[in-house]
Amino acid sequence: MDMRPIGVFDSGLGGLTAVSSLWRILPEENLIYFGDTARVPYGGRSRETILKYARQDVRFLQSFDLKAILIACGTVTTTSLTTLQAENDLPMVGVVEPTCRRAALVTKNKRVGMIATAASVRSGAYEATLRRLDPEVTVFCRACPLLVPLVENGRIHPGDVVIETVVAEYLEPLRQAGVDTLILGCTHYPLLTEIISQVMGPEVTLVSAGEESAFELKRLLKERGLRAPEDRQGETEFYVSDRVEDFEQTATLFLRQDLHHAARRIDIDQYGT
Ligand code: DGL
Repeated sequence: MDMRPIGVFDSGLGGLTAVSSLWRILPEENLIYFGDTARVPYGGRSRETILKYARQDVRFLQSFDLKAILIACGTVTTTSLTTLQAENDLPMVGVVEPTCRRAALVTKNKRVGMIATAASVRSGAYEATLRRLDPEVTVFCRACPLLVPLVENGRIHPGDVVIETVVAEYLEPLRQAGVDTLILGCTHYPLLTEIISQVMGPEVTLVSAGEESAFELKRLLKERGLRAPEDRQGETEFYVSDRVEDFEQTATLFLRQDLHHAARRIDIDQYGT
């Protein structure tokens, strides 16, 4: 039994979709969430910059006595997971491997689509992992750079012509490719599930990054004897690097409930360069 919290981080609010899954899958665990809202989005930046930011994010989280970290960000996972794992003793779970495992399991026609940020697509990490898991799978990737800013601004509702138009344009080539499974390779995208489903049609299975990694984390904690007692209710603390007011307003959309505790603002630049 281990009562220490789990650190969860993302470039912004997207990782809250993973928090929401963790509340369901591991309700007894304490969580420390960090959203780097001052520097979101990461997805259009170089690998060097993303790694620098991710190291600072991890250093901030390490200021708590944690038992594990969930990197609830596709962009950080695809560009920096291996480096961060090599630099830290703490168990770290990313979103790519668990998501690809699920997609490889559910696809029937072996045609899998994957949408994510430009940095994630450029890294080739989802493609490489899927091919390793099932060499017969053909992967169709598409970078969707406009989606994160739109989601961060709450433009997620069906009927919103701006988000519907952007999503339809991004997804058209994947629809034409006849994929039967679509990986939402960025943790912001589950907020767009309804709109994405409308475009792709009901026969296409959507696999979301945050959800699968929460299951992976549960397995890892169990394996290493790190789980908290199941008869308790965990607490979550939220930290951001920019205005808490903006975070709290949009966070309720991601979490589908009000925050029980106010978020706190930290100066992320204090955590290394
Ligand atoms: N949620 C992040 C991801 O999963 C967002 C990326 C960004 O900041 O551009 O990739």
